[in-house]
Amino acid sequence: MRPTVRRFPRPERGMISRPTVDDVYRYRAHIDRAIEELLNDPPQEHLQEILHRLQLGLPHEQQHQELLFMDIKHILAQNPLCPVYRG
Ligand SMILES: [Fe+2]
Repeated sequence: MRPTVRRFPRPERGMISRPTVDDVYRYRAHIDRAIEELLNDPPQEHLQEILHRLQLGLPHEQQHQELLFMDIKHILAQNPLCPVYRG
């Protein structure tokens, strides 16, 4: 039987501290290495599909980055110490 897991309220998702920053960096490095390997020697029979997915995936990832930035600004705006974002 699966344990019941209460879904965390979306407006409070900035309060969750997982995954850790180290986990995120490790995952990012793994993905970067895998993509670099793929692009250095792409299997020619899948080249069109790879290019298509990159065209679709890169703007999608960019949108994630924009949402992350919005979340960071939102969290900082709620902090009573009024911290400033320095990018
Ligand atoms: Fe996504």
